[in-house]
Amino acid sequence: MEIDVFTLFPQAFDWFREQRHVRNALALGHRLDCVDPRESSTLAGRSVDDTPFGGGAGMVLRVDVMEAALRARYGGDPVELPRRRRVIALTPGGRVLDDAWAAELAAQPELTLLCGRYEGFDERIVEHLCSDSLSIGRYVLAGGELAAMVVCDAVLRKLPGSLGHAESAVEESFSPALEGRPEYPHYTRPADWRGWRVPDVLLSGHHEQIRAWRRERSRARGGPLQ
Ligand SMILES: C[S@@+](CC[C@H](N)C(=O)[O-])C[C@H]1O[C@@H](n2cnc3c(N)ncnc32)[C@H](O)[C@@H]1O
Repeated sequence: MEIDVFTLFPQAFDWFREQRHVRNALALGHRLDCVDPRESSTLAGRSVDDTPFGGGAGMVLRVDVMEAALRARYGGDPVELPRRRRVIALTPGGRVLDDAWAAELAAQPELTLLCGRYEGFDERIVEHLCSDSLSIGRYVLAGGELAAMVVCDAVLRKLPGSLGHAESAVEESFSPALEGRPEYPHYTRPADWRGWRVPDVLLSGHHEQIRAWRRERSRARGGPLQ
């Protein structure tokens, strides 16, 4: 899989690239590249934004600048791009990411993520140059970089070989294996700490009972059936 992140702060991803599952995915041939729209800006001082029409606070990322950045990266008219690959604007008001969408994105050969900053995108970027707009939750961050890392993290860990144990990504919260529900609780040693005992069934060695207990605990935690 090839992921391009368009960001004014490429260095923000240095830490992320060093995380084990990301390193594993990259070693397997997957790609995570950052593209800085400033590099292709032809405006004075490589500017990327301007004040909003209609007034108001903050600066808005310009559509001509984002178009030039997409053209420089992929060639052709960026308007055609969303037909060839998912181009996703990160916006607080977009469709909220969930496990099913992360799985769908993990099945794509190519992804483009656009990080906003300041007041956000000129709406024509989202309308004409993107296939989707994605929110990581109903709150507002200062920029799209953390949101892009959330998307990349959720997607990359679904790729075979990126996690140490392949089964870790199969039966976990919100997965089809748990019918979209939160995962059951986990415990490790010591079995008794300050009188807080691990449930007996987990120490029983009885695999069928353990499976049934886990299913029941996951159901008790609620959430939707998928
Ligand atoms: C300060 S925010 C802009 C907020 C925008 N004026 C609004 O009220 O919706 C700057 C950038 O951070 C990113 N961002 C902030 N919160 C986000 C969220 N919950 N999900 C995805 N991206 C987010 C977006 O790329 C956004 O363009």
